[in-house]
Amino acid sequence: MASIVSMVAAPGFCYSKSTMVGGASTVTARPRRLVVVRAEGQGINPDIRKVEEKVVDAVVVTELSKPLTAYCRCWRSKTFPLCDGSHVKHNKATGDNVGPLLLKKQ
Ligand code: FES
Repeated sequence: MASIVSMVAAPGFCYSKSTMVGGASTVTARPRRLVVVRAEGQGINPDIRKVEEKVVDAVVVTELSKPLTAYCRCWRSKTFPLCDGSHVKHNKATGDNVGPLLLKKQ
């Protein structure tokens, strides 16, 4: 019959030591479980230019087919990577200030 007598944590792995009747022991290593923590209620933009009503950047590109192309940065567009305006609803619902990346043909 085995009993766990100690648990030791080390980066990346959890170790457990089992001692058998008679004194023999084994050490088992298994990968540590990854825990994902999400910020709730703060939107996707935690701290970039929060004083602005909407964060919009523009880059001049010479090879674009249209004069202006908006790329989504809020991750809510149904036409991702292109912006479809979904950021407006997201901003109203969360108080966030995300906006598209505008690429302008020169
Ligand atoms: Fe995402 Fe406009 S829909 S930035």
